Amino acid sequence: MTTATGSTSPAQADPTDPSHLEESTRMTTTALPTAPTTTGTATRATSAATPRDPRVWFITGASRGLGRAFAQAALAAGDRVVGAARDVTPLADLVAAYEGRLRLLTLDVTDRDAVFHGVARAVAAFGRLDVVVNNAGAGLIGMVEEVTEAQVRAHFDVNFFGALWVSQAVLPYLREQGSGHIVQISSMGSTAGFAATGLYSASKGALDNMSGALAMEAASFGVKVTLVQPGGYETTLFTLGLTLTTENEVYAPLRAELAKMWGESKDADPAKAAALLLRVVDMAEPPRRIVLGGAAYDMIAELDRARREEVARWEELSREGD
Ligand SMILES: NC(=O)c1ccc[n+]([C@@H]2O[C@H](COP(=O)([O-])OP(=O)(O)OC[C@H]3O[C@@H](n4cnc5c(N)ncnc54)[C@H](OP(=O)(O)O)[C@@H]3O)[C@@H](O)[C@H]2O)c1
Repeated sequence: MTTATGSTSPAQADPTDPSHLEESTRMTTTALPTAPTTTGTATRATSAATPRDPRVWFITGASRGLGRAFAQAALAAGDRVVGAARDVTPLADLVAAYEGRLRLLTLDVTDRDAVFHGVARAVAAFGRLDVVVNNAGAGLIGMVEEVTEAQVRAHFDVNFFGALWVSQAVLPYLREQGSGHIVQISSMGSTAGFAATGLYSASKGALDNMSGALAMEAASFGVKVTLVQPGGYETTLFTLGLTLTTENEVYAPLRAELAKMWGESKDADPAKAAALLLRVVDMAEPPRRIVLGGAAYDMIAELDRARREEVARWEELSREGD
């Protein structure tokens, strides 16, 4: 179908706790690197990886779906990966296939302290971070009127705050390196609100706008940010990762219309998204925003056109606001 607080710094994380980072067996107690506190700049970069050097990836939500595809593609390309999820057991086969190049991190991105600790352990594992993919996410389907406070807060905790905590945790390391690429997996849904997926769109819209600011703030440190807007991919987002509201009957006709529309959409192979992401991270000047998939591209283009038209239609009235 188309359609994760606290305030701990990496330096405060417990350096003796190896429980979160695993290889095929748990990693022994590697000392955590202290989070850099100095302000680095791009000009200080001496250790930036070139496209031919093996990169180090940190991927959240790496156990299934798109995240797993990203991890697999990076490993196949010769890179090293720290793959994070609440349950990392589905990645056991990749650990075996890519011996020593995939480290598993049991992490709930909604837990800010755990995120800072996990990122420090990831840096300790491979000595650096080159590509950080904020991919962990969940689905929430239901009308705006139906969604409960607990549902929407839990949803934003994963889709927005999780990515925010990881972005905050990795920045000191990337700044110190003078290089790094933060990839934010948003959605075509971040472009506008859609009936029944409004809160999903809202969480991705928040990620979208935060990432635009982050791109501007991080640029002078040599850190790149790309916002990725995938269309529909065959994953477990709308099965295992889905929360549904209790349906209010008044929306039955609209639900029927939406079901018909969604039923007609065709989801793509996550491997295709992964292949494209590899090309993006290879670019010297990667895009700040990239749409994944033709249908998503067409839809976003149409939404942008309609929005421009609507704003222009009321230009005269708008200017009376000065
Ligand atoms: N599939 C699509 O059509 C599509 C379209 C647009 C955007 N996206 C976005 O793509 C990203 C990946 O989604 P997907 O489709 O691959 O979904 P998926 O198959 O359900 O995978 C979601 C991943 O996120 C992890 N995750 C969920 N909650 C987490 C938490 N609190 N902490 C850490 N990890 C967590 C899951 O592992 P655990 O449950 O073990 O933690 C899993 O690895 C999401 O951000 C989604 O919004 C997907």
